[in-house]
Amino acid sequence: MTMFVRFEMERFQSIYENEVDFNLSDSGNHPMSIKDLLDESEIEKFLSMEIHYGYTQGDPRLLEVIKDWYPKTNESNILLTNGSAEANFVMAWALIKPGDEVVLALPNYMQIPGLAKNFGAEIKTINLREELDWHLDLDELKNLVTPKTKLISICNPNNPTGSVMTDDEMSAIADIARSNDAYVHSDEVYRGSELEGNETKSFIEFYEKAIVSCGLSKSFAHPGLRIGWLVANEELIEEIWAHKDYSSICASVLSQEIAIKIMAKSSRGKVLSRSSKMLKENLQLFQSWLDNHAGLFTFVPPRAGGMAFVGYKMDINSMELAHKLRTEQSVLIVPGDCYGMDGYLRFGIGSEATYLSAGLDRVSEGIKSL
Ligand SMILES: Cc1ncc(COP(=O)(O)O)c(C=O)c1O
Repeated sequence: MTMFVRFEMERFQSIYENEVDFNLSDSGNHPMSIKDLLDESEIEKFLSMEIHYGYTQGDPRLLEVIKDWYPKTNESNILLTNGSAEANFVMAWALIKPGDEVVLALPNYMQIPGLAKNFGAEIKTINLREELDWHLDLDELKNLVTPKTKLISICNPNNPTGSVMTDDEMSAIADIARSNDAYVHSDEVYRGSELEGNETKSFIEFYEKAIVSCGLSKSFAHPGLRIGWLVANEELIEEIWAHKDYSSICASVLSQEIAIKIMAKSSRGKVLSRSSKMLKENLQLFQSWLDNHAGLFTFVPPRAGGMAFVGYKMDINSMELAHKLRTEQSVLIVPGDCYGMDGYLRFGIGSEATYLSAGLDRVSEGIKSL
């Protein structure tokens, strides 16, 4: 039997995140409550809802407000899933067959690398470069992709670096894919949380064979709803939907009802600007914390997403450092080892400012002895 590749980062976070005083491992925005989102009459309606199965493709009212966020798409281009994690999973399951060549831009959330290995892909990797502010060298990508390549997978805005591709970069990647007839999978769960508010375009605007995954967990600040989706051409959606019939049937009707409210044009912008505002303020706080530790860290500030990816100059392995901070200071951060990048740490900066500040004080305390 071939070895099953485990999803180390997800397990690391989920084991410890509820045990610590300060969880700085999250990459999303501090969640909102139902009261923040729904008024009394909406809550009342909610209380009398009957809990049926939902539509398997997604509630048509929800598909409608989701497709509105993507130019030139209609409902048949959307498939609703349980979180973007399921979106990524069913996409990979439907498309990656043993022996298929898959090109992965690293680092990323690391779900697709694990799935690609488990589905028997031949993997080629290309690294985002710190000296390019965590962008790809597109000449390198051009040399890597061949007519054998079935799928190129990117994460944009990127987890963990928070870098954001320009339109020209996406267009160039689409050209490379098109000339080799490869699919492009773009994980866009951080789209909409750009710190300067200038929303990144979706890859779906650039390429007819793009498959976009997204969801409400990060920019939209509702991870507990477990709402995600895929956007792709109709034929691909049909194929992936056939796989989803085997995985989860449909998403929760309660979550979908709330999601309709979040994605409606009247509230979508408000939820997103709450995220961008919070992240911008928190980034300043984080930057001054770094400034107080001059010489210890290297940092390219994120342009989107609730995370800050820093290199450190301390003589300790990143996993060891994360466990030291967890056990001695009860604060959780993600070690670079989870991305195969020892010497780096990912700090979540999407929590409330007082919480972030207190968590960072604990980190300061913990690294004193180093
Ligand atoms: C890039 C990326 N994609 C997908 C996910 C999964 O998110 P969810 O299933 O909560 O939507 C995460 C979670 O951290 C992520 O960072």
